[in-house]
Amino acid sequence: MKRIFSGVQPTGSLHLGNYLGAIRNFVGLQDDFECIYCVVDMHAITVWQDPQALKANTREVTAAYLAAGIDPKRCIIFNQSQVAAHAELAWIFNCVTRLGWLNRMTQFKEKAGKHRENASSGLYVYPNLMAADILAYKATHVPVGEDQKQHLELTRDIAQKFNKDVGVEVFPLTEPLIFGEATRVMSLRDGARKMSKSEPSDMSRINMTDDADLIAKKIRRATTDPDLLPGPEVLDERGRVPEAARAARPEAYNLLGIYAALAEKPMAGVLADFSGAQFSRFKAALTDLAVAVLGPVGDEMQRLCADPAAVDAVLRDGAERARAIADPILDEVYDAVGFLRP
Ligand code: TYM
Repeated sequence: MKRIFSGVQPTGSLHLGNYLGAIRNFVGLQDDFECIYCVVDMHAITVWQDPQALKANTREVTAAYLAAGIDPKRCIIFNQSQVAAHAELAWIFNCVTRLGWLNRMTQFKEKAGKHRENASSGLYVYPNLMAADILAYKATHVPVGEDQKQHLELTRDIAQKFNKDVGVEVFPLTEPLIFGEATRVMSLRDGARKMSKSEPSDMSRINMTDDADLIAKKIRRATTDPDLLPGPEVLDERGRVPEAARAARPEAYNLLGIYAALAEKPMAGVLADFSGAQFSRFKAALTDLAVAVLGPVGDEMQRLCADPAAVDAVLRDGAERARAIADPILDEVYDAVGFLRP
């Protein structure tokens, strides 16, 4: 059976990268898979979070899932800390993962930065908790943006080593699902940096709850280059932007990719429409499109956040259904490890 698991951290404003790289893709998958979508509050506290803000942000991510069109009846929506299996399995994986594997994780290096000695040990073992999220449900597919690819490779390594160590095929080898025109949305100010919640400048990202004026301002001020927009002749035979072309004009291709993803159109079509255009014309069209797509989602998020009891009810119901799947899997894991449960 095919089962999807994915998660989003409640660590601040959700942005266009989270929406186009992940959340919108979650919506389309609910027709073909059994889907479990988590708000990963335990991952969030690997970096200090204000407790009140964490509660509000957990509800906001839940509201984003719902506003984007994820159906809480067909899918399971819950926050991680309500289901003990995540922490329990993460401990076992702490004992499976080798230090050398964790030392290779680029996200830890980026997040810990120069202050590595000061980073929490939770941040270091973050990928083990992520593997536990996925494997506590024996999920077969995980939709994510490109930045999570390395963590998913580690999840496969953990599953493989665990199965080999205990001599039983307990866990599947999970497949990443990285698709769409916006698997890596870049900052509006610097095409070499990822659009991110942790970037200090709010002008670097479009948040899911930004209003039309703010979206217009951010796109108007987005960094560009002096040339006219390229045409479809730049694409390679598979319809992709070649790396060299992207590296030469990172901001231009980032904005074009955002347009393609928002319009749900292939890049070739977008390039054909704006070939030779000035950025001013393209930016006006991009603003209209971004407002048309994000506006209703942002409004609905705000409406849902005004009724926290209703959001909490969704999380409570989701957690109960999640436990019903994860608990028997944990029993199987504990038995395989040799834990006695008389
Ligand atoms: P997080 O909260 O950083 O991001 C949530 C999702 O958004 C995607 N994303 C992007 N996609 C395209 N362009 C961007 N600029 C961009 N920024 C973020 C991320 O790839 C992600 O899919 N570790 C995960 C959360 C997690 C998880 C899991 C995911 C915890 N357990 C299990 C999948 C399965 C994270 O920090 O996502």
